[in-house]
Amino acid sequence: MSTLDGTVLVTGGAGYIGSHTVRALREAGRDVVVLDSLELGRREAVIDAPLVVGEIADKDLGSATCNEHGVTQVVHFAAYKSVGESMGSPGKYWRNNVAGTAELAEACIATGVHDIVFSSSCSVYGTPEIVPVTEDAAIDPESIYAESKAMVERILYWYGQTSELRSVSLRYFNAAGASFDTRIGEDWTYSINLVPLAMKAVLLKDRRLQVFGDDYDTPDGTCIRDYIHVNDLAAAHVKALDYLGNGGETVAVNLGTGIGSSVLDVLNATAEAAGEEVPYDMAPRRAGDPVSTFADPSFAEATLGWKAKHDLTEIVQTAYTWHKSQLDDGR
Ligand SMILES: NC(=O)c1ccc[n+]([C@@H]2O[C@H](COP(=O)([O-])OP(=O)(O)OC[C@H]3O[C@@H](n4cnc5c(N)ncnc54)[C@H](O)[C@@H]3O)[C@@H](O)[C@H]2O)c1
Repeated sequence: MSTLDGTVLVTGGAGYIGSHTVRALREAGRDVVVLDSLELGRREAVIDAPLVVGEIADKDLGSATCNEHGVTQVVHFAAYKSVGESMGSPGKYWRNNVAGTAELAEACIATGVHDIVFSSSCSVYGTPEIVPVTEDAAIDPESIYAESKAMVERILYWYGQTSELRSVSLRYFNAAGASFDTRIGEDWTYSINLVPLAMKAVLLKDRRLQVFGDDYDTPDGTCIRDYIHVNDLAAAHVKALDYLGNGGETVAVNLGTGIGSSVLDVLNATAEAAGEEVPYDMAPRRAGDPVSTFADPSFAEATLGWKAKHDLTEIVQTAYTWHKSQLDDGR
């Protein structure tokens, strides 16, 4: 039996990217079980899959879930993701992101599960010397969060040396947007990312958005990032599981569009979607912000047969529609 015939365990499947990936997997005909603590996720976001509420560090729970649901592959999203928080509370990140993943990997190996797709991050490159960024760029994390991702990549590599485990580490650029049917999106309560903050500024008008730095050496002076639609990310996970199921070796892959957009590009697209300007103020540069980073996505296409389909306009339009629907529903 191919591992593609069994169930996919999605850790963190009640979170933002995880919940979109659960849907993509179900649409691809895969059986799915979600393991999530619900600390930062929502039960309602898990559509069409059973949810086990618990911790990835609970090896017995991980093993029991794999055995009871016939798990053959894992997509591992569960982690903390705030760069700022990680610098103030390092132990929280080492324990959850790093030690928790080691326990999960042990549970997988103990139950004969060998295919893991891991949520890594472009932040493992720190401030890249060359853009677009290729996978052979230096790994040079500039925060404890980013270091936790780089460490997990190495942990998975070493489990690959000592067991049959094989992994795909997906180094996401900036995930954004919401589902096209407005059922799920990125909750701004927990997020400090630009797109939800722009939505909050234009929809709630409770506070003006701060743009950190307008004197960078970029066309409009603001920082440049690679925004990738969450549905494109979700589709890449389906492809990564196919790759492993077909015998693919351990690999790390950038997931981006290859197109850099500035902070002002995002605010202009938001104004277009909302039909009104985003209230914002210019603020001084923030320490540790790379000026410009965007992916070279060619390895993802060559390895996984995956390419992003959606552009910044669709990212912002779906995000706006989802946030507005949440407000209209009184949530
Ligand atoms: N959002 C981005 O732009 C981005 C970029 C790069 C990498 N990532 C990575 O992608 C993954 C998913 O990100 P997201 O934006 O969907 O985050 P999210 O916070 O929305 O989702 C994470 C989910 O994991 C759960 N979780 C956390 N710790 C857990 C634990 N110990 N046991 C069980 N469940 C746990 C949370 O309750 C939450 O539902 C994270 O690993 C993040 O570091 C995200």
